[in-house]
Amino acid sequence: MNTMTNRRSRISNHRSQTSDLRSQITNFRSQITNFKALCLALLCGAMILLLNSDARAQAKITKESFGKTADGQNVDLYTLRNSRGAEVRITNYGGTVTSLKMPDRNGTFADIVLGFDNLDDYLKATAYFGAIIGRYGNRIGKGRFTLHGVEYKLATNNGENHLHGGIKGFDKVVWNAKPLKLANGAALVLTYLSKDGEEGYPGNLSVKVVYTLTNTNDLKIDYSATTDKDTIVNLTHHSYFNLAGQGNGDILNHRLWINAARFTPTDAGSIPTGELRNVHGTPFDFTRLTAIGARINQDYEQLKLGKGYDHNFVLNGRMGVLRRVARASDSTSGRVMEVWTTEPGIQFYSGNFLDGTLTGKDGKVYQQRSGFCLETQHYPDSPNKPAFPATLLRKGARYHTTTIYRFSAGR
Ligand code: GLA
Repeated sequence: MNTMTNRRSRISNHRSQTSDLRSQITNFRSQITNFKALCLALLCGAMILLLNSDARAQAKITKESFGKTADGQNVDLYTLRNSRGAEVRITNYGGTVTSLKMPDRNGTFADIVLGFDNLDDYLKATAYFGAIIGRYGNRIGKGRFTLHGVEYKLATNNGENHLHGGIKGFDKVVWNAKPLKLANGAALVLTYLSKDGEEGYPGNLSVKVVYTLTNTNDLKIDYSATTDKDTIVNLTHHSYFNLAGQGNGDILNHRLWINAARFTPTDAGSIPTGELRNVHGTPFDFTRLTAIGARINQDYEQLKLGKGYDHNFVLNGRMGVLRRVARASDSTSGRVMEVWTTEPGIQFYSGNFLDGTLTGKDGKVYQQRSGFCLETQHYPDSPNKPAFPATLLRKGARYHTTTIYRFSAGR
């Protein structure tokens, strides 16, 4: 009897031990699960910290004095640096990009825009290096246009024509500047009030230009404006690029693609004749990547008139839609620049008037074609060409365009 009882109690002990063991295993499992959850939480935390520190790194903006204008206005120089080490320097004199540092295929940075080391040289300059251009980028024939039956006479500063906003265009005024830190980069907000009658234009025009350097190496420019009286507006940006580095030879070996099936031929004063000419079979066909210098000296009337390329291309695609319109590349450094814009046109200027008389940053002498411009815009002389897309800005309406210069490096 006793033996039976003992056996039963042993069996029951054994059962309870087994159940203890089971519960220990379950506990252990749940501890492992908890541990996994803890690890995951720690990993997420670390990633958030990393991303935050990256966000902090990207928002680097510094400001220093750049001197004074002849009439005593203070001018500043802002440096915007992104999380990848790319950098743009912008002065509020003319909203001018004075330097732009981008990496080559080995990650080596170079300054890829022409410009000067000091404000005095910008005050004297006539080449529009890196500046914001307005009210009207490019030319208006004879400096005249008629709006609602009234003829307006603008300042003439390019022979008998009006160029880049006149004698004192937006490239020669001091803008208000406000730096802005963003999640994806750093920005500089520039504002300027152009008074009614300035350089002959009607209406008080309130202008805002926002430069953004993103962490993916885009230099984005948002232009906007409003007026208190109907007027005309056509804003652009005038950097001279050399993807091999500023002062590092000419740009004739850069390869260029422009998404334009037509261009606007001009007269001897660079005013469009009104014709939209098909580029096919001409030296103006950049619909396939072609070296800038490949055809620049051809015996083609439009090249002779412009002393090279200095023409507006009629961009394919819908105006108002941000789309890729051009691409330039330099095979020695691997640097590539794409241009994206909402504008209907682009002025491709091959630096024809540079002639070695300007000495720029680091003592570099700028010879002919040591830089090229891709100025996104409405077509030149649009106020006198009713068939071209209109540049009229009505009272109460808002002008808004966007252009992106996108940089990368390839093999
Ligand atoms: C523009 C014009 C050129 C020239 C340069 C500045 O691109 O189209 O003709 O005036 O600016 O030198």
